[in-house]
Amino acid sequence: MSEIDRSHVALAVSAAAGGYILYSLMKSRGEQDQADVKSKFGKEIRQNDFCYSQHLFILDHGSYGGVPRQVLKVKSKYEEIAEKNPFQWNLNEVLHHWRASIARVAELVGSSSNNLTFVLNATAGVMTALRSTNFTPNDGILINNLTYTSMQYAAQQIAEETGCKVYSVNFTFPIRHSQEIVNSYRQMFDEHPDIKFAIIDYIVSPTAMLMPIKPIIKLARERNIISFIDGAHAPGQIELHLDELGCDYFTGNMHKWAFTPRGCAIFYANSTVISQTHSLIVSHYRYKGFELDFYRQGTRDYSSQICAGAGVDYLHSLGGLSEIRNYNMKLREEAMNYIERELKGARRLQIPPDMVAPFMGVFELPDHKYDLTEDGVVKLRNDLYKKHWIEVSIKLIQQKLYCRFSIHVYTVMDDIVHLVNALKDVLRS
Ligand SMILES: Cc1ncc(COP(=O)(O)O)c(C=O)c1O
Repeated sequence: MSEIDRSHVALAVSAAAGGYILYSLMKSRGEQDQADVKSKFGKEIRQNDFCYSQHLFILDHGSYGGVPRQVLKVKSKYEEIAEKNPFQWNLNEVLHHWRASIARVAELVGSSSNNLTFVLNATAGVMTALRSTNFTPNDGILINNLTYTSMQYAAQQIAEETGCKVYSVNFTFPIRHSQEIVNSYRQMFDEHPDIKFAIIDYIVSPTAMLMPIKPIIKLARERNIISFIDGAHAPGQIELHLDELGCDYFTGNMHKWAFTPRGCAIFYANSTVISQTHSLIVSHYRYKGFELDFYRQGTRDYSSQICAGAGVDYLHSLGGLSEIRNYNMKLREEAMNYIERELKGARRLQIPPDMVAPFMGVFELPDHKYDLTEDGVVKLRNDLYKKHWIEVSIKLIQQKLYCRFSIHVYTVMDDIVHLVNALKDVLRS
């Protein structure tokens, strides 16, 4: 780091510390005592378990996740074993580790191991399901106006190849009740009986909205529509029971919230669709059933996928999902209240409380100098990083700029206080 960088860091850290002292003074003594005793989470865990550079304020876990040192160690151990004898590793050993990792993850997400496999990422997950479905010009695929871009393009690509149509549910804000969302899906399904395949987000990326997927899946089932759940943000954030959910397909990144190295997502297919489902890249074992079809898609690096079990072990070592959720959700709410109080004009996204993603918060930015374009988004994100060492997600949603912050086990209120101070600086200066 240069001297200038260092002085920036010092300023940033002291600004955050100053803000936090004020913030702490505003809290009652009792609450503070509780906070002091309460937690294995926060600063210590960040220093001990994560590799993030000390000077960074990490508030964007939802984009690319973060891998604990313990899991990285397991990954390098496997890489070393693989290099000691690449022949035995690939011919005889890796399958056993890959299966064990799937089984461990299957327990976490409430799935039978037979219906679950790994793909590289959620984008590969949607493409796998779409390519395993037979579309004609008489069919439709349903997305929504906030569906993740790669998922939208996946639908579009299939439409270009097969002549099928792409329909989109339109969300506008405020949303007052989750039933409004269910009604919009019902209306689309009823108006377009040609819809064959619905891509339904579990947590919508830009808005961090938790969608009422259960009633939507039910509507799809009643109409024989294949339901694909884009749960990119779900594993490690939401308690999952995939065997009971009733969807046909589910994909979800392990690398976002489940402490797994990048290159690992779950892919679930239920008993109705499993026999028609094939891996995207042809497997050496294409005709040997679902499990082996997703293994040996050519020679590849399995080190991330075989570490997913270690990611799950790490999650359990912290007390499991329920303890992590307790910490993250409480801090998220505290953070949002602080932001609305201290950053005049900031306002949380207008959605009902049961639609707020557990580990993320989204608020509309107050008056600012940035263009309402993707360039404006990039500029603001860069300013926050370059001037204040903050990694946070900025989103342009229906011609307004929003900030999406993530809370995970290492996040503390100082990070939020620093974000608010930084926004006060960059938005108007
Ligand atoms: C809702 C949603 N779907 C899909 C994706 C794509 O995930 P990946 O880039 O791992 O394929 C993301 C990534 O952030 C997402 O938020």
